[in-house]
Amino acid sequence: MNALVEKLKSIVRDTNATDIRAAFAADPERFSRYSTTLGNFLFDYSKCAVNDAVLDTLEALAREAGVERKRDAMFAGEIINITEERAVLHTALRNRANTPVLVEGKDVMPDVNAVLEAMGAFAEGIRSGALKGATGRKITDVVNIGIGGSDLGPVMATLALAPYHDGPRLHFVSNIDGAHIADTLKLLEAETTLFIVASKTFTTIETMTNAATARGFIADKLGEAAVGHHFCAVSTALDKVAAFGIDAARVFGFWDWVGGRYSIWSAIGLPLMIAIGKDDFAQFLAGGHAIDTHFREAPIRENIPMLLGLIGFYHRNVLNYPSRAILPYDQRLSRFPAYLQQLDMESNGKSVTVDSTPVTCKTGPVVWGEPGTNGQHAFYQLIHQGTSVIPTEFMIAANGHEKTLRHQHQLLIANCLAQSEALMKGRSLAEAKAQLTSKGMDEAQADRIAPHRVFTGNRPSITMVHDSLTPFALGRLIALYEHRVFVEGALFNINSFDQWGVELGKELATGLLPVVEGKESAAGHDSSTAGLVAALLKAAR
Ligand code: F6P
Repeated sequence: MNALVEKLKSIVRDTNATDIRAAFAADPERFSRYSTTLGNFLFDYSKCAVNDAVLDTLEALAREAGVERKRDAMFAGEIINITEERAVLHTALRNRANTPVLVEGKDVMPDVNAVLEAMGAFAEGIRSGALKGATGRKITDVVNIGIGGSDLGPVMATLALAPYHDGPRLHFVSNIDGAHIADTLKLLEAETTLFIVASKTFTTIETMTNAATARGFIADKLGEAAVGHHFCAVSTALDKVAAFGIDAARVFGFWDWVGGRYSIWSAIGLPLMIAIGKDDFAQFLAGGHAIDTHFREAPIRENIPMLLGLIGFYHRNVLNYPSRAILPYDQRLSRFPAYLQQLDMESNGKSVTVDSTPVTCKTGPVVWGEPGTNGQHAFYQLIHQGTSVIPTEFMIAANGHEKTLRHQHQLLIANCLAQSEALMKGRSLAEAKAQLTSKGMDEAQADRIAPHRVFTGNRPSITMVHDSLTPFALGRLIALYEHRVFVEGALFNINSFDQWGVELGKELATGLLPVVEGKESAAGHDSSTAGLVAALLKAAR
């Protein structure tokens, strides 16, 4: 691995690979050489600092790291999450081919299909009004209470698929901050509200606390007996759900081989299904399945998740770029960067290999972003002229859903393409100066101002184009990024499927609660923590 990384560094030097502008000038076929399609999805990586020598070596790196072997082990249900001793099979949840998927010798597909059917019946019951609230009124509002993977996927996907949303209104409560649930409850009528308590473990403090508050809301307004009509749950911990008092017929299970941040395809997708209906949800699953088939079958150089992962590794470990920006030119994908933050950073923000030794490469980058064009008026300045190179990933639909606003969509497309072109081409000092003098500025003034208007260019970007943001297209996009994270994790030789890094803060918060409540002394905590507790207690009313 290290030898191939060194080889890549020398290829970059010897072939001047980072001069992307020169590469375009020298090769009119560069776009067709370094872009690929899958159905109506186009993946263009020609504006990255790649050439055949770089790609050959990245392919060799993938082979050396055994990425294909590791991929096959995942799909085969092997215990690849070694620290939690679990298989990793979110792909089974969208296995539309319905071929057997074995975990410890047992085919999981009958259970997967049974839960999907139960979700469908429940979702259609809520949507049609057949399943009513305790007083016989139709459910108009559904509140998903969950956090992390039990929130980000449903929030992101429900926003993304707004044009398909013909079910009850959806609300999402995640934060332990009481403001979140208080602001949400203000909008609701108890008689017409359904709460979904979504938690894989059914122990997460935020979710359990918000669920208790919601339960109090129903009990106060409608009486304790009404609670059962206004709650349902999604969890792997069926015993804990029963203890909370939710009727077994309203509990939708999933399994320990589904990671939280990979769970949108499971019953965690129930709010999305209630919003868009089971047929469109099936289309969403089909989009994910299409990527799974492609990921399993396409050769590395034509395999989009492989390419995305290999380029990600190259940016991080060969070119030393510390972050990547996710820039969907689609307002409805406004939560997609936040979704990818959990998917990528919780999966690949690790420092220890699967062999329990320290990693010798750089692992996951910082992932961030906002939809265009809003981001252009906020942080693009730094992407264009800052001192760090930030690889960008653009996504755009050929067609918006607003047929009467075609002109606005054309403006959106023009802006998206202009950004990647500007990042690649840049503007030289001579060009900047010529532009100023052509507008009548004198030479001395132009010499002073021109350096501020220089763009170095050669800043890498990937652009992904789909036909329109349908349930299928969204499923495809999410699965593509899931497998990208997998490929990078395989190259880093880490376990992408545990998340021990979130534990320490949780443990300390539990210990600090009695101190913050004033029931225990802060002695034993560091002086900063103790000082902050004292200040907060003094100011508390
Ligand atoms: O933040 C840690 C985490 O365990 C995530 O991985 C998970 O998505 C989230 O908490 C919520 O967990 P649960 O679904 O068990 O409530």
